[in-house]
Amino acid sequence: MGPMGRRAVGVVLTCLLCLGGVASDIYMHVPRGCNNRLNEETATRTNANRLFDSQNNNRGGYNVGDKGSTAAGKNQANQYRMKYFQSGPWKTQSGDNGKTFLNIEWTNQHGCGGNEDTSPQKQNCALVLQYMCQDDVDSPEGTDDSLRNGAVTTTPAYAQPNKNNVNNENRKDNDVKTDRGLHEKWDWYNKCYLRERNRGLFVADQKLANTKNMDYSSAINTRQNPTGNRYGYECPEERDYFPYWHPSPWVDIAVLADSAAMCNHYQTKSFNTQPYHECIQNNQKWSRYITEKMCTDNGGKWTLLHSYLEKAKDKKNQGACEGTKTAGLTYQWAVAHDSDNNYQKECLVKLDAPDCREAPWSRSNHLGNGMDGLPLSYKWTLPHFPSGKEKRCVFRIRYNISTDDYDPYNTDYNQNDEFPKKSPVRQNPYVYIMKQVTPLRLAINTAQYGRVFQDRSHVFNLVPRENSLDAKAKVYNLNVRGKRGNIVQVYPAVEYDFAPNELRIKLGDLVHFQWTGSNSHKNGGNGGDGQAGAAGEGKDGTDRNNLVEMLDRSGNFPVPFENSTLWDAVEVVWIYHGKKGLGKKDLAINMASSGYYQCADKSSCQGDSVETKGKMSNVLDNAPASYGGAVLKFTKKGTYHFMCTRNNSFSNRSQKAAIIVG
Ligand SMILES: *[C@@H]1O[C@H](CO)[C@@H](O)[C@H](O)[C@H]1NC(C)=O
Ligand SMILES: *[C@@H]1O[C@H](CO)[C@@H](O)[C@H](O)[C@H]1NC(C)=O
Ligand SMILES: *[C@@H]1O[C@H](CO)[C@@H](O)[C@H](O)[C@H]1NC(C)=O
Ligand SMILES: *[C@@H]1O[C@H](CO)[C@@H](O)[C@H](O)[C@H]1NC(C)=O
Repeated sequence: MGPMGRRAVGVVLTCLLCLGGVASDIYMHVPRGCNNRLNEETATRTNANRLFDSQNNNRGGYNVGDKGSTAAGKNQANQYRMKYFQSGPWKTQSGDNGKTFLNIEWTNQHGCGGNEDTSPQKQNCALVLQYMCQDDVDSPEGTDDSLRNGAVTTTPAYAQPNKNNVNNENRKDNDVKTDRGLHEKWDWYNKCYLRERNRGLFVADQKLANTKNMDYSSAINTRQNPTGNRYGYECPEERDYFPYWHPSPWVDIAVLADSAAMCNHYQTKSFNTQPYHECIQNNQKWSRYITEKMCTDNGGKWTLLHSYLEKAKDKKNQGACEGTKTAGLTYQWAVAHDSDNNYQKECLVKLDAPDCREAPWSRSNHLGNGMDGLPLSYKWTLPHFPSGKEKRCVFRIRYNISTDDYDPYNTDYNQNDEFPKKSPVRQNPYVYIMKQVTPLRLAINTAQYGRVFQDRSHVFNLVPRENSLDAKAKVYNLNVRGKRGNIVQVYPAVEYDFAPNELRIKLGDLVHFQWTGSNSHKNGGNGGDGQAGAAGEGKDGTDRNNLVEMLDRSGNFPVPFENSTLWDAVEVVWIYHGKKGLGKKDLAINMASSGYYQCADKSSCQGDSVETKGKMSNVLDNAPASYGGAVLKFTKKGTYHFMCTRNNSFSNRSQKAAIIVG
């Protein structure tokens, strides 16, 4: 038996069982992962190419939130963007003081993390958590380069450059339309389209084509995407590899690695702290060349570009910049990766290396919870932006799996098929178990052998703390996950629950209650891989939530206001619908009605009081789908239980939660 044969038996033994089918998948539940959905009424997403390459099942994803009780339709101003308060200047505080926490929750289909002896994994994996922010602007559509959800599900356009007219500036103007969603900027994709691909990479037996209109193969062609399909303005090479060896617009939050031994690699190579070179030719925003020699031979400048938390545009020289000591942050005079000043140095606020730890344990072929029945999660400390500006942002999670059939870190172009038949893995190979028996065919797609999945949030805002929010306080976000339908209909999303559904805090901590939902999730046919239909209470296709107190979570009835304890234990420090001085009764009504009413009597708020506003539907049909909510300070120890009244069907849907103040 030759080395290939032995390799093949290894494949049979370790992997016949674990690589069933092509789906592996990652779905984010908090914040709601879009999986490229926008607002479709269908069970399946309309356009898997809309913003990014998820490689997930078409059934995944949550619709963008609506502000009101009707669908936003084509008006992006009526979409709801989650608003999370930024951290305060926590680096100048002790412990967790000043931090805002957002607990990210997701499910991943294959296992990850854990201890090999007690819970062996059948593959290698890593999760990479990132975000991208920019200054917020008033209109939701913004400018050509603004992050936005879009009003239609169409992929943003890209006219392929003509070889002799690459710099045709009208291409961008003609391509970018503000009714389409946008994450990465047009220039980012254009740069990727025109940059040669890294030929040192392992591509197995895949044949990577030349890029259209170019006489070379560019960074849009990868092993996983050999034909260079476009997904929004995402760069396929950057998508498939991390840490990436070029500048990238994404900021690394955390890497949840196969083993903590990999952390040094991730942290030292993260673009957060490790600048990378790019070839700058005539101050253009693109170049074909990816090595110093090719760059300088062609008249380019091989330039180190930097990532940053934000730009400090008011610091106009190196001295003023690097002398700044705000919020315990470091300022650096350097060239920004997305320079808009002809690659001159400017003042950048430096980032920290990403957090890195072993991934939380999860089981293979089980798209569910992790250890102890708890959701897979990561507690993200939201950034503090020293400018005090509001930001609009997107969150991204990637899930990377590979097996030991080849060494993922030491297999490179030397094993590519251009050196005849060297690839250690081949398309649908036949393997012999015994000479006498028909060979068995393995379902192997070398484009998916070692594979990255992805999900992203809709656009959300990171809001500076207002004066009422103590810069030193800890802020916990309490949101809702899930979408309308029974479990078969919502899968691979989940049914409703509060998230987190048990929150332990200390006296004086702040909790930001907020939720978002859609009015257009009818989960209509065709059903794709699942069942269409959206069982639920109230009007078809609507998500609704509210919060009422209950005595304990084993029951199903709210306590009457007169018997409540929660509203006596909190102070309103910020509120979206209404004003700060609300009484406890007003607050209870505000939350029970998802902001339909701001207060009880017209004397306690200007707007929507129970006295002046028409009747609310018993099942919240005319209440807003999203609730900007309130930030409450807990001033009394105790355990406070609450529930949502809308869909507690058969008394055991249990959208219930507790806050334990110790
Ligand atoms: C995925 O893992 C492979 C190793 O198997 C690595 O080469 C690649 O850079 C990783 N990509 C991402 C996005 O994590
Ligand atoms: C809502 O209630 C219906 C029954 O009316 C049930 O089938 C469905 O699963 C529930 N949905 C959620 C998300 O709780
Ligand atoms: C509310 O409190 C009153 C007085 O303590 C008590 O009689 C009543 O049973 C309580 N009701 C509920 C639903 O807890
Ligand atoms: C939960 O709901 C199911 C219907 O889906 C019902 O048959 C069952 O009795 C309920 N269980 C409890 C404990 O209420």
